[in-house]
Amino acid sequence: MQSNNSTEGDTFHIRKLEISDKEKGFIELLKQLTVCDSVTDEKFKERFEEITKYGDEHIICVIEDVKSGKIVATGSVFIEKKFVRNCGKAGHIEDVVVDSSTRGMQLGKKIVEYLANHAYSMGCYKVILDCTEGNRAFYEKCGFKKKEIQMVKYFV
Ligand SMILES: CC(C)(COP(=O)(O)OP(=O)(O)OC[C@H]1O[C@@H](n2cnc3c(N)ncnc32)[C@H](O)[C@@H]1OP(=O)(O)O)[C@@H](O)C(=O)NCCC(=O)NCCS
Repeated sequence: MQSNNSTEGDTFHIRKLEISDKEKGFIELLKQLTVCDSVTDEKFKERFEEITKYGDEHIICVIEDVKSGKIVATGSVFIEKKFVRNCGKAGHIEDVVVDSSTRGMQLGKKIVEYLANHAYSMGCYKVILDCTEGNRAFYEKCGFKKKEIQMVKYFV
């Protein structure tokens, strides 16, 4: 659907994380999700290169608001290689967040679909994630269903 000579696709561009995204508010966006201290340019480069080495096995996707040049949504997926299920693979979705100013515009759904499609294209038999009860309805809208419970042990 077009409005003011532009489409939503013109305004919001979904793609993989680029190193220049630190300058576009990527870290500030993650701070809306959880504890995320400031990251120096050096540390960001180091971690970016480390993740990039995994290629399609670990991707971080972002949505850029082309007009403002800001990163307004992100999420990641990691491909786990197993012995079970005939040496199957499972995708793990993590760190999904949409900027508070652009929530309710289907951007979260777009991120999750992008990540789930990536896991499917990598040959995964399933894709899984953890979430709060408050986000359950959102993930159900993305085609997920509740299964079992989450357990965690923090080291710090
Ligand atoms: C959860 C979050 C990612 C959703 O992103 P969003 O862009 O606002 O969601 P969307 O607009 O894509 O919503 C898709 C559908 O889910 C629904 N939805 C979204 N959040 C919802 C919620 N908390 N409860 C119920 N429904 C919800 C929307 O109404 C929409 O329904 P529709 O397709 O029938 O219109 C966003 O609110 C966010 O970043 N929250 C803070 C961080 C967070 O909790 N991340 C998840 C970590 S597991």
